[in-house]
Amino acid sequence: MIAGNVQRVRVDLGDERSYDVAIGAGAIDELTAIDARTVVVLYDVAVEPLAQTIIAEFGSRVAFQRGLVGGEDVKTWGLAGDIFDWLADAHIDRDTVLIAVGGGTVTDLGGFVAATYLRGLRWCAVPTTLLAAVDAAVGGKTAINLGAGKNLVGVFHHPSFVAIDPAAFATLDPRDVAAGVGEALKTALVADPELFVYLERNMGRALAADPEVLAITVARCVAAKARVVAGDERERDDTGAGGRAILNFGHTVGHALEKTCGYGALRHGEAVVLGMRAALALSRERGLAPALADRIETLVNAIPTPHPEAAHDAVIAATASDKKRKAGKVRFILIRDIAQPYIVDDVNEASVRRALTALA
Ligand SMILES: NC(=O)c1ccc[n+]([C@@H]2O[C@H](COP(=O)([O-])OP(=O)(O)OC[C@H]3O[C@@H](n4cnc5c(N)ncnc54)[C@H](O)[C@@H]3O)[C@@H](O)[C@H]2O)c1
Ligand SMILES: [Zn+2]
Repeated sequence: MIAGNVQRVRVDLGDERSYDVAIGAGAIDELTAIDARTVVVLYDVAVEPLAQTIIAEFGSRVAFQRGLVGGEDVKTWGLAGDIFDWLADAHIDRDTVLIAVGGGTVTDLGGFVAATYLRGLRWCAVPTTLLAAVDAAVGGKTAINLGAGKNLVGVFHHPSFVAIDPAAFATLDPRDVAAGVGEALKTALVADPELFVYLERNMGRALAADPEVLAITVARCVAAKARVVAGDERERDDTGAGGRAILNFGHTVGHALEKTCGYGALRHGEAVVLGMRAALALSRERGLAPALADRIETLVNAIPTPHPEAAHDAVIAATASDKKRKAGKVRFILIRDIAQPYIVDDVNEASVRRALTALA
């Protein structure tokens, strides 16, 4: 998987939509090899220099470019609609590839626009936050938000290529680094025991945004996510083994906290860290060995998060409206060991209340 300083992970979907994720200093250079007459570049102004490097490399093939202020506010109908108009004004045709450069909000928006404009343009992701690199930009989920909730309007539309240069993470706010490390630890806990041990040894360096540690972490997360997505592309696994839903470990309470505290108060990854504490408390209640639970909790607790003052009643009410619930039941992903997740839908309220006290 290592060629020069670029690691390559294949997301194998079993057909011509399969694609590569390149991770390393030279990954961005590979973008220009994409077979497209013209490209459209949507980028986060927080990474303007990187975006301008990409735009310069494509030269006259750039048919349209636009800088956006990254954050949840870009994932709106309004902005998506404006972009459709701009693409129409620029006479963008189906032989165009859209390139989204930025965090998960910009790659979610860019993927959504690519999925829907002209019934689907090809697109590439250049994730520049750790969270987007380990999670958002790989797997084909694209979405925008509604007032009623996050990610309520979306399409599965895989990118054709993903390029990740870990040097981009150097300018991240420490909270965004911690949020990304949180999602990476989640991936380790449900799918990669070796990554768990690696993070146990290197948590300090990961939180300090050490590029070598983050490159290895990203490559392992992408490989794990690629395996899970290949097995259950559209999150329809109903066998009880979990399929893609296992990636929602920590997300039942995490999403509820995001909603209760107000979007923006907590980074998504921070909410997931708190949600993992609750999921670990529930896993313990159902038999996760205490010594292992302690060991995992030590690592989860090493990731700094704010301490939100969320009323337990409100959090419990919010779990009930989580869009991942099935047949009216709230689902939790729990673990019986590292990389041995399972799904339950019979957690009673008293248990959830006990788990929420684990957040204090
Ligand atoms: N599609 C999926 O499967 C999936 C999975 C997980 C999360 N998501 C989505 O991802 C979003 C969260 O992603 P995020 O945490 O990357 O948020 P984000 O895009 O808001 O980025 C966080 C902040 O970092 C800034 N930024 C981006 N790159 C930077 C860099 N290199 N240096 C300095 N600042 C930089 C952004 O401007 C923003 O202020 C959420 O909307 C979530 O729903 C999607
Ligand atoms: Zn997440």
